[in-house]
Amino acid sequence: MKYIFANWKMYITAEESRKLAHEVATCSFDPQALSLAIFPSMIVLSEIERLFEGSGVAVGAQNVAWSHQGAYTGAVSAFLCKEAGCRYALVGHSERRYIFGENHEDVRKKIEACFDVGLTPVLCIGETKEDMEEKKREYRLKKQLMSALEGLSVPKSGFIVAYEPVWAIAQSGIGTPCTPAEAESVHQWIKAELAQYTTDAVPVLYGGSVDTNNVVSYLTRSTIDGVLVGSASTRAESFLPLLKAATALQINS
Ligand code: PGA
Repeated sequence: MKYIFANWKMYITAEESRKLAHEVATCSFDPQALSLAIFPSMIVLSEIERLFEGSGVAVGAQNVAWSHQGAYTGAVSAFLCKEAGCRYALVGHSERRYIFGENHEDVRKKIEACFDVGLTPVLCIGETKEDMEEKKREYRLKKQLMSALEGLSVPKSGFIVAYEPVWAIAQSGIGTPCTPAEAESVHQWIKAELAQYTTDAVPVLYGGSVDTNNVVSYLTRSTIDGVLVGSASTRAESFLPLLKAATALQINS
């Protein structure tokens, strides 16, 4: 099983989201071989979930609150996301950590909130350019994993990890990806680390400037269980060929 997760961030309008979702819904793929999920804006989440009914495409939230209910202006709980039909939620995306100031404790509580309501969290981890310059990649990833997972009892719905080097994430649609070989060796390292926290197999996805041209080179690596695609997933002309390439790979394998 390989995963294609599409994080639409705040790139497109509600109308563009509906149109793109319609096009994605018509793509044929084998749900036993490919797990496809879209993370749209909250504003169209329920609508898009309904639109995907029967298509095998899941939806996820880009963020959740760590509290379940109460006086939290502007926040959306994991429960509300679940109620809207989400199967997944991104937790600890670097844009949440570095732009909106979320800390390790927030990330941990959000994972617990997802577990409480049966959402599968996608824990995003990744080092910055500065971490790389200071040779602190492993230190950063270790810290992010430990603070999020230590002592946690993992429910059946499980969790997913997305390795997203911050330096590889596209800014305004342009970025420099981590090479598949480098991503593969980091994934190997992450999987070894994860063994401390759970005996279950945890899918580890790569994210950071994945596009139509490079998607296959990631998906063909055995330690890369899938990809989390940002900007290239927000336009039909790049996302549909990307899906087609991933589907062809499944058919041929
Ligand atoms: P990108 O974003 O594909 O635009 O680099 C990936 C992500 O941040 O999830």
